[in-house]
Amino acid sequence: MMNISGLAYVVAETTDLAKWKGYAEGVLGMMTAPAPDGGLYVRMDERQFRFAVQPGARDAYVVSGWEVTGRADFDAALVVLKDAGVAVEMGDPAHCRLRCVQQVAAFSDPSGNRHELVWGFRSDFAHFASPTGVSRFVTGNIGMGHTVLPTTDFAKTVEFATQVMGFGLSDIYNFQPAGPDGPTLPIHFFHCNNGRHHSLALAGFPVESGCVHVMVEVENMPEVGRALDRMAAHQVPQTATLGQHTNDKMISFYMRTPSNFDIEYGYGGAVVDWQEHIVHEFTRVSLWGHDFSIGQRSAAAA
Ligand SMILES: [Fe+2]
Repeated sequence: MMNISGLAYVVAETTDLAKWKGYAEGVLGMMTAPAPDGGLYVRMDERQFRFAVQPGARDAYVVSGWEVTGRADFDAALVVLKDAGVAVEMGDPAHCRLRCVQQVAAFSDPSGNRHELVWGFRSDFAHFASPTGVSRFVTGNIGMGHTVLPTTDFAKTVEFATQVMGFGLSDIYNFQPAGPDGPTLPIHFFHCNNGRHHSLALAGFPVESGCVHVMVEVENMPEVGRALDRMAAHQVPQTATLGQHTNDKMISFYMRTPSNFDIEYGYGGAVVDWQEHIVHEFTRVSLWGHDFSIGQRSAAAA
């Protein structure tokens, strides 16, 4: 199995780069810079980027970038992918330069979600200075946050995430939107080789934009509140109210990105000692708050 150390970056596609730039700087409070492909690097720490936004015909999520700590784990991961019969595309020098890494291996999971495995990030280590004064984002050795991906074949994709990509199951949620007699929409949460409660979650339903949401974490409640104010000031659609998750204890709200997936903006996420953790199923996704029906209401009004 692979030994993934964290979510290094995500790649989004947009029809409107200027809108993404305004959203990243003015609402997320992240820095931006031009990328060599004509796109946008969105910076949230000492890395050159954590969101790469590429110009294109769609507003969508396109790639999850996973990191290993060095060359040995990268080479071992390539063997795992080969043994599993996975088609791997090795990044050429231009692709490596675009992602600011030594090597890239790209592949798809059984639901068609695109993944990139990388090692050896390259950075100028310039100081992160948020244009809106965000103190900092919680990243470092627990990765940039987490991503929740849709599936068309849930069971096969879970098997791929655990048996090939080496993720460990953190816990289970079986969403029953129409009550106990209605259909079940499973969402399973997975950790990699760091303490973040989950770096990946897989949802048992398709999503047109290619992603349910990406979570980014700030260091305290005032930073979450200020982001809520900026979202309102920029008239960004909110997709869930402030709330706190049962599993990772994150206090967060949700809003739409210009690439049509959501950002969960939160603080206080659990860092777990996996030796002590007991896998379980929870039946409520939030301890309090997180009214997702406001997203449907604002979509209906739009
Ligand atoms: Fe989340």
